[in-house]
Amino acid sequence: MTDLQEIVDAIAASCSREVDRGAVARYIPQLAHVDPMQFGIAVVTGTGEEFVAGDCDVGFSIQSVSKVFTLTLALQKVGDALWDRVGREPSGDPFNSIVQLEHEAGLPRNPFINAGAIVIADVLLAGGTPAAALDEVVTLLRQIGEDSSIAVDGAVAKSEIAHGARNMALASFMKAYGNLKNEPVEALQLYSNACAIAMSCRQLARAGRYLAWDGHNGPKGPVVTSSETARRVNSLMLTCGHYDGSGEFAYSVGIPGKSGVGGGILAIVPGIASIGCWSPGLNAVGNSMLATKALELLAARTGWSVFSGQS
Ligand code: DON
Repeated sequence: MTDLQEIVDAIAASCSREVDRGAVARYIPQLAHVDPMQFGIAVVTGTGEEFVAGDCDVGFSIQSVSKVFTLTLALQKVGDALWDRVGREPSGDPFNSIVQLEHEAGLPRNPFINAGAIVIADVLLAGGTPAAALDEVVTLLRQIGEDSSIAVDGAVAKSEIAHGARNMALASFMKAYGNLKNEPVEALQLYSNACAIAMSCRQLARAGRYLAWDGHNGPKGPVVTSSETARRVNSLMLTCGHYDGSGEFAYSVGIPGKSGVGGGILAIVPGIASIGCWSPGLNAVGNSMLATKALELLAARTGWSVFSGQS
């Protein structure tokens, strides 16, 4: 393989020339102000080396990428009992769809659509306060992202809550079906604040290491979660991590990934690398247009794929 830094630099250069960058998310007003010209990538490998380019240290709203970490915590808390309340199938619908929820009696298809992540937030609340549960999520991210400055962007959280009527509808609907133990407003407080956590590509790539190394924070790093949980989270990232673009991402990139409407993607090459990539412009299904393209180029240039024996 050519030198990884050369590959990453070439990808950043190619992305900087791109004219078609998609459109930044506008339904959360605070996200509409983000400069669409930004692009960053960070690749952390098993030796602990970091290969970075572009705006890799600029913080952005991780949005639905947070769902990877909240799912991990929920599985640690309640184990397989979680699957009585959330499914494990791709939805094939937009991430904020309510139609499927009615058909399926308040049981969300998977933990990465909004409804599923709201149930996960309800599990993490466990009768406590949204602030205490949020503290648990932020503490985990500071530890595995190796940066004590990782925090919620208060302006984004406020903006999301003020414009969260649709999520309130999803939560209230699930409450009506008995699939929410806390009040919708409490589950949404935690959910929206977790989505509003800001991280850089480098912090995200570091935070994802436990998924690349069987639950360890790097090949010789401390245990973050069990190898079984890491494997299961990866499988859901691959099948459901890009909403109704999940099949396309699996086909064109070929590794587990989770996107957010802030334009970030966390991608995992098991045993090899954890990757954070970000560009704010989104494609039609709400995934970052350039981060997806960059990961496709990276997979093509390195041969990394969970479907290949040559990784
Ligand atoms: O609930 C929302 O709409 C956002 N906080 C999260 C959405 C998101 O990132 C879905 N992503 N692609």
